[in-house]
Amino acid sequence: MNHVLVQDLHKSYRDKEAVRGVSFHVEAGEIFALLGPNGAGKTTTLEILEGFRDRDGGRVEVLGRDPGDRAHSAWLRRHVGLVLQDIAVEPYLTVRETIARNAGYYPAPRSVDEVVELTGLTEKSRTRVKDLSGGQKRRLDLALGVIGNPRLLFLDEPTTGFDPNARHGAWDVVRSLRDAGTSILLTTHYMDEAQALADRVAVIADGRIVATGTPATIGGRDHALKRIRFTLPDGCSPADLPVPVSVEDDGAVTASVAEPTLALHRLTGWALDRGLLLDGLTVEQPSLEDVYLGLTADHQPAPVLEPSPLSAAGHRSTP
Ligand SMILES: Nc1ncnc2c1ncn2[C@@H]1O[C@H](COP(=O)(O)OP(=O)(O)O)[C@@H](O)[C@H]1O
Ligand SMILES: [Mg+2]
Repeated sequence: MNHVLVQDLHKSYRDKEAVRGVSFHVEAGEIFALLGPNGAGKTTTLEILEGFRDRDGGRVEVLGRDPGDRAHSAWLRRHVGLVLQDIAVEPYLTVRETIARNAGYYPAPRSVDEVVELTGLTEKSRTRVKDLSGGQKRRLDLALGVIGNPRLLFLDEPTTGFDPNARHGAWDVVRSLRDAGTSILLTTHYMDEAQALADRVAVIADGRIVATGTPATIGGRDHALKRIRFTLPDGCSPADLPVPVSVEDDGAVTASVAEPTLALHRLTGWALDRGLLLDGLTVEQPSLEDVYLGLTADHQPAPVLEPSPLSAAGHRSTP
């Protein structure tokens, strides 16, 4: 069963068309990331799913119910967890008191101790909310999002403003929630966050989904050319090499190939025959960031996705 279904969603603010025909779904038990730059329409989409904003057109289902129908509001509030960009909490309550109070709003909440531990707040459970750091406050937001034991959790930019340690901590929390059976829809503009967390990703730009897939395959990433890179041995010229290469600005040479096994074999064989080493030898796959930048750059095709004329001869070409 799909926990979220969005088909041809449209939403305008006066003259601004913020969401222009967005479609995607979130399967039960997965982490799905809506990845896109600021202003892409992520929060608008999430707010429609949360029932906070009306849509202009399209079909939307959350746990099988239409969040635009007020008759479902109370039911959805009990079964869906939310972590918004800023939640108002009582500054003079402690962390534990805040979580315990919210637990009382739900019919079958998680245990307060479990949630305190899950969100890494054990040390801070007796601290007043007003004395928490930004990262700790955000973890409390996450705790409040999951105390109701939701089947589905919405996270809007869960780690914006975190330091690297806090981000990794939050990622661990999100993964353990998924492993405990909660489906998660998160928005982010961080490529590494989508890469680290998401089972599937949709890239959204200017109100449209431009690609959907797994972090490993999105935008043809798995079929894109790999880059073999090394420093040319002293006294050699690119023309001496058994594989066509191009020379980079930093003096390194690169060969772009669909499948690197044969080209590597030729290059390393060539070097060993001459008693040479290929300094700094690496094989690079285009990163999710390369793909994302290509997909979100104003209709510019990603350069990394185009077959290169420098592909080593005799290789299977990119499908
Ligand atoms: N309440 C609003 N009134 C008018 N325009 C808005 C409102 N909220 C968002 N927008 C505009 O809609 C577009 C999408 O915004 P948003 O959904 O917040 O994107 P994201 O969350 O991806 O940054 C942006 O151009 C933004 O300026
Ligand atoms: Mg936003």
